[in-house]
Amino acid sequence: MSGLIKSSLARKYVMALSGLFLVIFLVLHVTINLASVISPDFFNEASHFMGYNPLVQFLMQPILILGVVIHFVMGFVLEIQNRKARAINYVKYKGSANAPWVSRNMIYSGLVVLAFLVLHFYDFWIHEMSYKYVEALPEDLTRYYHETVEKFAPFWRTALYVISFVLLSLHLWHGFASSFQSMGVNNKYTPGITKFAKLFAVVVPLAFAFIAIYHHLNPITH
Ligand code: HEM
Repeated sequence: MSGLIKSSLARKYVMALSGLFLVIFLVLHVTINLASVISPDFFNEASHFMGYNPLVQFLMQPILILGVVIHFVMGFVLEIQNRKARAINYVKYKGSANAPWVSRNMIYSGLVVLAFLVLHFYDFWIHEMSYKYVEALPEDLTRYYHETVEKFAPFWRTALYVISFVLLSLHLWHGFASSFQSMGVNNKYTPGITKFAKLFAVVVPLAFAFIAIYHHLNPITH
């Protein structure tokens, strides 16, 4: 029994750690993407650096993809565990009385973010891999800005992105704050950390949505 509890705690820990790692990635990603609105030149430079620096490409990128895979696989494992536990205690379990909607439906908000990532990888990552390694086209320091802006020309893509960011916000609203709890952090800073996590959960997806909508409304015309 204690082994079971320990392994379930270990799973929660891994979930929290991989989630926090992805949060750090989101900070970097939203910062670079905001540059596409403020300074196209800086956006081009940063994107080129991220795309061609060997440390980023062959160390950070595989670690990031591993982080995403671990987070999703562990998310499914935890969901299955929770469902089994609920089935055993179904008489006592009254979901809505015990936890808010967002926290009980992390699997669904997570699945929408996963579906978004499939579209997003198709939009940007596959294109990058094909440009660099399949077609082996020459380096072009100026292509990133217009490639990104052009992606948001269709309304359907901009809308799908924005809907996904709303679900990302709900996912972070519960996930970011509770990750500290899962790692056993409970001290006088906890209320402050929780407030910060909730603010982050609103501001970052809002910034992503702003970028998508801005490029949709301001297409490159020449
Ligand atoms: C308006 C919003 C967004 C824009 C404009 C955007 C743009 C981009 C671009 C241009 C790339 C290609 C980078 C490269 O490989 O050279 C990329 C990759 C990626 N994006 Fe986004 N992104 C947005 C939102 C998000 C969000 C919300 C997430 C996560 C939930 C995300 C996750 C990723 C991941 C995991 C990669 C692959 C990184 C890599 O390994 O290269 N993106 N994005």
